[in-house]
Amino acid sequence: MRLIVVDNYEEMSKKAASIMASQIILKPESILGLATGSTPLGMYKELIKMYNDGEVDFSQVRTFNLDEYYGIRRDNEQSYYYYMDNNFFKYINVKEDNINIPNGTAEDVEQECINYDKRIKESGGIDIQVLGIGVNGHIGFNEPDVNFEAQTHLVKLDKKTIESNARFFNSIEEVPVKAVSMGMKTIMNSKKIILLANGINKADAIEKTMKGKISPEVPASILQLHNDVTIIVDKAAASKL
Ligand code: GLP
Repeated sequence: MRLIVVDNYEEMSKKAASIMASQIILKPESILGLATGSTPLGMYKELIKMYNDGEVDFSQVRTFNLDEYYGIRRDNEQSYYYYMDNNFFKYINVKEDNINIPNGTAEDVEQECINYDKRIKESGGIDIQVLGIGVNGHIGFNEPDVNFEAQTHLVKLDKKTIESNARFFNSIEEVPVKAVSMGMKTIMNSKKIILLANGINKADAIEKTMKGKISPEVPASILQLHNDVTIIVDKAAASKL
């Protein structure tokens, strides 16, 4: 695991955006694995700036998002589809047909999960996957558990995740209790991974991810087994290393 410690959120976002942009410059038809949450927002802003300045072109990239809430329609402001469109996609020239986000309202969710993994595989696999991290060490929505789920699957969200994501909703009761998420194998199959974290509330999770024992209790710890992971953290998130 490569560790990059930066001073603050802005620097973390800039570093991550540069890595993503380099990937796309080197391979314009890159397959990007994308994440939601507050962490990558700054990176998306930087990438939009780079696009506006003519430094990066998204016309050939294909994207796969990590996860989506279950039971929430795409046009709902809380959906990750809405988040991606409003924070990134609508400002760049990615083709709509090249955007993939799990469908959280699919009638047959099991089939939706199988199809999602199939689409990733058929695309040639994810070249670079961006990850945030939950305070409990989750990646995507792979929650701490006694087992790892390998493929894209339906997850029951952890109490901690529901509490921490409640800040985006009017009340905790509105937070969906389930989500569709890429599994650990899907994530581990990515050729490169960058994990971003900022703030003191992520320090514990980062320490366990990098220094802890590899265990499904801390899903991000399995990244220790991947051979191309870069962790970009601000000083606060790195404070327990
Ligand atoms: C969410 C998402 C994750 C994200 C994490 C951290 O629940 N499913 O993909 O990395 O929680 O979120 P944040 O960046 O807002 O701290």
